[in-house]
Amino acid sequence: MPKENILEQPQARAARSILKRIGDFKPKIGIVLGSGLGRLADNIKEAIVISYDELPDFGVSTVQGHAGRLVLGYLHGVAVACFQGRLHFYEGTSNEDSQVFIRTLKLIGCDTVILTNAAGSMNMEAGPGSLMLITDHINFLFKNPLVGKNNEAFGERFVPMNDAYDPELRQLALDIAKRESITLHQGVYMGVLGPSFETPAEIRAFMMMGANAVGMSTVPEVILARHCGLRVLAISAITNYAAGLSKTAPNHEETLEYGAIASSDMIKLVENVIASLK
Ligand code: HPA
Repeated sequence: MPKENILEQPQARAARSILKRIGDFKPKIGIVLGSGLGRLADNIKEAIVISYDELPDFGVSTVQGHAGRLVLGYLHGVAVACFQGRLHFYEGTSNEDSQVFIRTLKLIGCDTVILTNAAGSMNMEAGPGSLMLITDHINFLFKNPLVGKNNEAFGERFVPMNDAYDPELRQLALDIAKRESITLHQGVYMGVLGPSFETPAEIRAFMMMGANAVGMSTVPEVILARHCGLRVLAISAITNYAAGLSKTAPNHEETLEYGAIASSDMIKLVENVIASLK
């Protein structure tokens, strides 16, 4: 990948502004926190907090439960850059805005990104409050964040998506979950555009297609991360059974409530993974 002038890219304005703020601090791992999971950022030591509205080209996250700030600092001695809140395509986000978000992690020096999200479960054994390690995805957004002119400074036009969810990091997460007595389900994440939740008929179709959980984020971020060579680990906090699989319809309050319940295990798991990547 030609990297010479990567920080002079038009999409590097936010990264340049962050690098100016953080001086010698060199983040290694990016973290993206989903709905109801923002608490993880509270444990970051020597934190430098930057609000998205201070960053050029950063769309402000409008979703309740998303703080809209970047927290840089140390988790178990590892330098991290943690996005508390993300952009979603259902907010009307353009491909360019979505690209800046993940590419900024690459530009400030991260080599790995840990993505978390809230998701609806299609596996009756993985109920609300539990965690699912994402092994693969189905892109059902009918959108791809790489559509448009390819920016060769970040990666090649055609991106392989085999093993997009890094097998070594997945094994590490499974080993740590076992050691820490955290139940960690595994499965395929169906990425949908939203913002309406799915119909029960859609959920039945998704189950036949081989999906185990459904959500409105993560897939575009994984595509962008793989395009620029970031390693990916992604974990869903199951906040509800998907539409038609329980008596109540999915709703955002439930997402926040069960996101908070799942967050203790999520925090323990993610922090231990990070500690072992030292
Ligand atoms: N569907 C889509 N997105 C979600 C869900 C769901 O059931 N739960 C949390 N995010």
